[in-house]
Formats: sequence, C-alpha cells, structure tokens
Amino acid sequence: MNPINVVILAAGKGTRMHSDKPKVLHALAGKSLVQHVLDCAKALDPRRICVVYGHGGEAVPEALKSTGATFVMQEPQLGTGHAVQQAMPHLDDEGETLVLYGDVPLIQSSTLHQMQQAGSGLTLLTVNLDNPTGYGRIVRNAQGDVISIVEEKDATPEQREIREVNTGILLAPTKYLRKWLAGLRTNNTQGEYYLTDIIAMAAEEGVVVHTVQPNHEWEIHGINSKSQLAVLERTWQQVEAQRQLALGVTLADPARFDVRGKLNCGRDVSIDVGCIFEGLVTLGNNVQIGAYCIVKNAAIADGTQIAPYSHIDSSDVGADCRIGPYARLRPGTRLHNEVHVGNFVEIKNSEIEKGSKANHLSYIGDTTIGCRVNIGAGTITCNYDGANKFRTVIEDDVFIGSDTQLVAPVTVARGSTIGAGSTITRDTPAGELTLSRSKQVTIAGWSRPKKQVTSDK
Ligand code: UD1
Ligand code: CA
Repeated sequence: MNPINVVILAAGKGTRMHSDKPKVLHALAGKSLVQHVLDCAKALDPRRICVVYGHGGEAVPEALKSTGATFVMQEPQLGTGHAVQQAMPHLDDEGETLVLYGDVPLIQSSTLHQMQQAGSGLTLLTVNLDNPTGYGRIVRNAQGDVISIVEEKDATPEQREIREVNTGILLAPTKYLRKWLAGLRTNNTQGEYYLTDIIAMAAEEGVVVHTVQPNHEWEIHGINSKSQLAVLERTWQQVEAQRQLALGVTLADPARFDVRGKLNCGRDVSIDVGCIFEGLVTLGNNVQIGAYCIVKNAAIADGTQIAPYSHIDSSDVGADCRIGPYARLRPGTRLHNEVHVGNFVEIKNSEIEKGSKANHLSYIGDTTIGCRVNIGAGTITCNYDGANKFRTVIEDDVFIGSDTQLVAPVTVARGSTIGAGSTITRDTPAGELTLSRSKQVTIAGWSRPKKQVTSDK
C-alpha cells in the first residue's frame, strides 16, 4: 500500500450548533467528533495527520494536542479547496492524501481501506441518495466515467436530478493534488475554492477517477446541528447494541443502552435498561447489570451481580460479588471475590478482601479490609482531618458494630469486635471487644415537657 497522509478539515464554524464550542469538539458516544475521525485515520497508519482548524481559536489543537497530529490554521475560510491547500506545505509528494472531515465522525476504516484498494488515480467516496438536496452531484459521461462534481448551487436542473452525491471524502496522489489545488479558481456561485473542482482537472488529464461506496450510509453523515448530533448518537448506539446482541449479550432493550467507549462482555452477560458504559469496561461471564447503572473504566469479574442504580468508576470488582442497589464505587476501589456492598455504601481508594460485607449506609475511604469482615450499618471511616488523608486497616474476621466511626490512621486487629455506636481513635487489640460509649442511664420519674397554656386574651 502507498504511504498515506490524512488531512482532516475542521475549520467550519458550526453556526447551527448555537454553541461557543467549535463544532468538531462536541461529543458523540462520549468522544469528540474530530477525535472519532482521528482514531479512524490512525487505523490507516498514516505518515502524518494534518488537522485544518479555524473557528474557536486554539480550542481544537488544545483538545487534540496529545494525538501527534499537525495543526494548520485556516483564516479566512475560503472553501474546502483552500482548506486542503493550507495543509499541503506539511505533506511530502510521495504517496497519497486522504481528505476527511472533522464533522463526519462515523467514517469507518473498513470503507477507507476499500478506497485505498480502488487502484491508482483519484478515488471518491460517493453515495446514492433518494434525496440528494444540498450535496455536490457526481457527473459521469456516456461511458459512465466520472468527469466532474457540480455543487448544487451551480448545477443545471438536469444535474440536480443526479442521485449519486459527493460525500466529500477523497483520496488522491499527493503530487497531483498539490498541482490541482494550485489551479483552483473561485468562479462559482459561492465564490469559494471548491475542492471538488479537482475532479474535472483529473478527468481532463486522463487520470482515472474511481468511486467507492461506504459500507453503511451512517458513515458519511455530517453534523451541522444538535438535532443531527442526537440522531447520529442514537444510530451509533443502535449499531453498538446490535453488535453486543450478535455477540450473545442479553440487552433488556437495545434502544435504552449507551456505550461511550469500549464494552467487552463475556458469555451470558445480561444488561437491564438505562445503563451507561463509559471508557473501557470489561464484564466477565454471567455478569448481570441491573437497571440504570453507570459503569466507567471498570472490570467486573464472573458471576457478579450489580443491582439497579449503582455507580462504578475506575474500580475492579471480583467474581460473585453482590453490589447495590444504590452502591457507589469510586476510583481506586478493589473488591476481591464474594464481597457484598449494599445500598448507600460509598467506597473510595480501598481494597476489600474475599467474603467481606458492607451492606448498608457506609463510607469506606482509604481503607484496607481483610477477609470475612462485617461492616455494620452506618459505619464511617474518618479518613480526612481537613488537611491530610489517612488509612484505616481492618484485618480479617473483624466485626464492626453499627454506627461506628473509625478515625484514621487506625488499625482494627484480626478478629476484633467493635461495639455499636463507637468512635475508635486508637488501634484495637486482636480478638477483643472494644467500644467507646457513655454508659446508658435511666432518670427515674422523669416526665416529658408539657405544652404551656398561655392566657393573653
Ligand atoms: C461539500 C462538498 C460537496 C459535498 C458536501 C458533503 C465542496 C465544494 N463541496 O459541500 O460536494 O457533497 O461537502 O457534505 O467541497 N471547511 C473548512 N474550511 C472551509 C470550508 C469548509 O474547513 O473553508 C470544512 C467544513 O468545516 C466542513 C467541510 O469542510 O467540515 C465541508 O464544508 P461545507 O461548507 O459544509 O461544504 P458543503 O457546502 O456542504
Ligand atoms: Ca454515634
């Protein structure tokens, strides 16, 4: 395969988004539009990716600075041909250049590979639409060869009848592209440098113009408004849902399922309605996710059940655990196998070993918990003194009574029992009962206050 350069056009204003943010930085499936295009381009292993930006100032290069792309400012914006011209000084003549668009986010590398295989010459990605309104039309001669693209605003009534349209995506030998772009003129209705005018130049020079069609029509859909963004988001989520179903995942409702990243599932996974998966999520065999859970950057091992309305972020959950409903696992949570975490339990930066339970209303932060520990309802680890954070260590077989505060740094030794309602500030000895409580007293004969009778008539 010829070496390839990729130019991504992303200078447009996106007026119809009614947003202060550049259009290409709006998110689809949890990732900016232009990042989708960059990730797809990277799959072609290009020599260089050049992003042409304009509106929104440095926001685009700032957002993409870790990608290794080259950024070129286009100011003013004089058309798609002018936009590609800005990138040319950064591209060497060897090989081909692929033009993509920052606001056409779902183009797939499989389609681009087909373009690369179309043969030498110029390759256009085209599509046949029932309603071609607004698109440039692909004009062919009697032999069926492409001879030009005519923009709708410049088209004759006959040309407007053409259903085959230009998606904008094209692949051209770089040295020809450079020459053709230099020859562009603005003698058209919009007074712009049209990239599409290079097609007629190629045809006149006898360069073959190939056409390739995308594998799915949604690959070439562009985003100009929030409405189009919402529609394409749903399309993408349906594609993802069908992919998961085809792999054997049970989805209670494929229309109420959102993946904003990558979801890997084992066998016999089932997911109830309204769940959102973000970042990289791995679910083992027989994992069940209840309704309305949000799971982000997490691994959940075989046989674990997550009950409804649980939030799991940057956590590692072992096998055969029972989590939720209404559990919150915050970053740095590591649960070993058979751990139970119940409702309104928040865990952060903590490790809990096999078979331990915290079933009700607790905060466990910066804590290490051994095996077979029972954390009573309402237990709080006081890990923060207002300035610094400290660790709590709870060893194997400890029983913490309800409504206990463990003031860190503190260690509750193996087999200890903590009486309910205690505030534990010092390490406790192994195997003993420790509690801190004022003695229960009874005031004999005490009576409740009575309502006072006022006589201010
Ligand atoms: C363009 C094509 C048309 C095609 C359609 C597909 C041209 C002349 N026409 O038309 O044949 O059917 O796309 O959607 O190419 N851009 C810049 N700088 C500019 C102008 C545009 O970066 O100076 C970017 C825009 O941000 C946008 C893309 O190029 O992402 C397309 O520009 P737009 O003005 O929308 O082109 P269309 O008129 O739709
Ligand atoms: Ca108390």
